[in-house]
Order: sequence, then structure tokens, then C-alpha cells
Amino acid sequence: VQGFREVAHLQKMLSLDNTYNEEEVRGFHARLERLLGRGDLAYTVEPKVDGVAISLTYERGEFVRAVTRGKGDRGDDVTANVLTIATLPRRLKKSSVAALPDVVEIRGEIYLTAAEFERLNAERAAAGEELYANPRNTAAGTLKQLDAAEVARRKLSLVCYSLGHCEPAGVQTQAGLHAALRAWGLPGVEKIWHVRGIDAVWSAIGELDGLRRTFAYGTDGAVVKLDDMALQREAGSTDKAPRWAIAYKYKPDTARTRLKAITIQVGKT
Ligand code: IVH
Repeated sequence: VQGFREVAHLQKMLSLDNTYNEEEVRGFHARLERLLGRGDLAYTVEPKVDGVAISLTYERGEFVRAVTRGKGDRGDDVTANVLTIATLPRRLKKSSVAALPDVVEIRGEIYLTAAEFERLNAERAAAGEELYANPRNTAAGTLKQLDAAEVARRKLSLVCYSLGHCEPAGVQTQAGLHAALRAWGLPGVEKIWHVRGIDAVWSAIGELDGLRRTFAYGTDGAVVKLDDMALQREAGSTDKAPRWAIAYKYKPDTARTRLKAITIQVGKT
């Protein structure tokens, strides 16, 4: 290839670059309008949290299980490790905002705050150990630990954003779900935008980009979701992803740096 444009083109073709541009976000809305046969659709725009996906099950308000997503149809049971998270409610609060379901699966993300990640790396540096590469991988590695006491020492955090199986179904909108999560005592995302139409979605994505570095967790994008859960069901899913949501990825942060040295290594060949 010659030049950056061709590299970018090849990356797209090979799906090495899964960022969406404005056109793709607009295409998502146009597809939903066609599919559902109506305009003026309402959406939520939320931070895309850069952590480890988790599914929490509560039965009659009691926390019973935490499972990672794993490779599709089967995750790991990480209940003992998730129980070390200080902000995880063992029991959901009753609230007039939304009745407690008999069984509810709540999805979210487990992450390490930047401060905790730095504290752990400072400890490792002092002990002469190799530093952790980034908060996401450190959170993933921590969840897999067999020693729950070691997990407790690393202070994982939790944020919830979505609903899985729910019996009986009570929540009707994505906005209602965020209100219910808060009322039940679950930690939710700092800010969500309720908007109507795709122009408002696009400006919310821009506003979130301006705010996201102030959040406790890393964010690498925005998730746009159809607000009405009946319409979500009507739109359905492909075998890979829901048709009613799209994850938009921001461009990675870049910075100027000075190249100090190049080490040339010669291998066998
Ligand atoms: S709901 C497009 N909401 O990002 C499907 N997912 O790229 C969105 N994630 O598998 C599913 N923050 O592990 C949703 N606010 C959020 C999210 C979120 C992070 C993760 C999740 C999902 C992946 C989608």
C-alpha cells in the first residue's frame, strides 16, 4: 500500500478498525425507521464503559450470581470475586419507582478506577514487579483470580446499564431502567442523554466526548439505544448484536512524544 489513506481503507476492509463515523450512526437510525415504519424515534445515549462485561442475577431482591460474558454462550461464574465489590448491593432496595422483579438479570461492566490502577502499579513498582498494562486488562485478570482475598485488595468497581432476563417485566423504557437501577441501589452511569431524532443523538455523542474524561471509569465510546423496550423487541437482533443499539467508538487519544532511541534486534532469520 501507499500512504495512510490506503492503510485506513485496508483496515476498514479487514475490520481492524471498528470505529463508526457519523454516516454509520445515521444509517443505524435510517434502518430502524424503515424497519419500524415510524420516524421521530427516541433514544438514550450513554457512555460505553471500557471494562469487563458482567451479568448479575437477583432473585426476590437477593444477589445470587455473577457471570462473565465469556465467549458467547458460556461465561465464568465469578460470584465470590464480585462479592468483594463495595458498591454491589447484596439486597436490592424496594422502591416506588419500580417494583422489584422476582428474577432479574442486570448487565454492566466491572472496572478499575484510574486512581486504584495507579495505586496497584505503584505497589508493584516498589516491589520490583512488572507493571500492569492498563486498567481493563487488570480488571479482567483480577476477576479470574482464584483467591478472593487478593481480589478484595484490588478494589474493583461496578457500573450497570442494561437489563437481561426480567420476571415479571416491569420496566418499559431504557430511561426507566436507569431510574429503576438507581432506585434499587445499583450504581449506574454518571450521565445519560434522552433525545429524539438522529441530529440530537449526534450532538449528545459530541457532548459525551467532552465530559467522559471526568468519569470514574475509562470510556472508549458512546452506546445509542432505542428508548422504548417494546420497539427494541420489535427491532430484534441479528446473530451478532441487537438492531436497536449501536456502539460508537471515539478516536483514540493521541499525543506528541519524543522518540528517544531505537533498538534494532536481529533474530535468527
Ligand atoms: S448495551 C451495542 N451499554 O460494550 C450493544 N453495552 O460494544 C450494546 N458496553 O457488549 C450493549 N458500556 O460489554 C451496553 N452503556 C453500555 C455499555 C456497553 C459498555 C460494552 C458491552 C457490550 C459492548 C458493545
